[in-house]
Amino acid sequence: MEETVLLFNRMATKYDLWFEKEKLTFQIEERAFKSLFPFLRKPWLELGVGSGRFAKALEIPWGIDPAKNLLQIAKGRGIKVVAGRGESVPIFSEMIGSLFVIDTLCIVKFPKLLLQECHRVLMREGKIVIGFIPRGSPWGRFYLKKKKGSHSFCRLARFYSVGEVERLIIESGFSIQGIISTLFQKPEEVKNHEIPMKGYRPQAGFLVIVGERLG
Ligand SMILES: C[S@@+](CC[C@H](N)C(=O)[O-])C[C@H]1O[C@@H](n2cnc3c(N)ncnc32)[C@H](O)[C@@H]1O
Repeated sequence: MEETVLLFNRMATKYDLWFEKEKLTFQIEERAFKSLFPFLRKPWLELGVGSGRFAKALEIPWGIDPAKNLLQIAKGRGIKVVAGRGESVPIFSEMIGSLFVIDTLCIVKFPKLLLQECHRVLMREGKIVIGFIPRGSPWGRFYLKKKKGSHSFCRLARFYSVGEVERLIIESGFSIQGIISTLFQKPEEVKNHEIPMKGYRPQAGFLVIVGERLG
């Protein structure tokens, strides 16, 4: 098993507890996803569902993840879970209306394979919704510093720039439909709720990119 999956399995409880400490950050990100709800066709599925915090908050009923200990926690939150990897999803083609990939692209070894698999399982004109921390943002720089130290989860993550994520999405058969920017407060200084903004803003610590399946 890959080092990342072993780590997420071993640290499942610790990973899940991070959200308790960062409640406001989580709510700010949640709000950005919710601003897209009117455009997202069902059924919904999250790839790399983890402990199901976002799936529960966003009412995504299904989740896939290779880390079984995280899936156990997600199951406890009422998410229907399946053990599996984003590069080879155990679902027939063209079954899903919208696919969420939240803070997971940075973890998988073959992000393009995952996105190509998203293309396969999405219905025609289905949407991919990717949430991530852009490398050049204050949050990206903060986590990159941690990566150089021994911080367990960051050590294994690869932080992408917005351009790199856009390129991966386009090369996997999608058109970019839009970007939502949020998390303008600096790491360790988040004190207020935020209203997400349309379009790419370099100061945003969290971006949501929506791609539409072509072909
Ligand atoms: C940073 S966590 C994000 C979890 C969840 N989306 C969230 O935001 O809390 C990354 C997740 O990717 C999962 N993962 C690792 N390799 C994967 C793969 N090849 N396909 C799908 N998920 C994977 C990990 O087990 C972990 O749950």
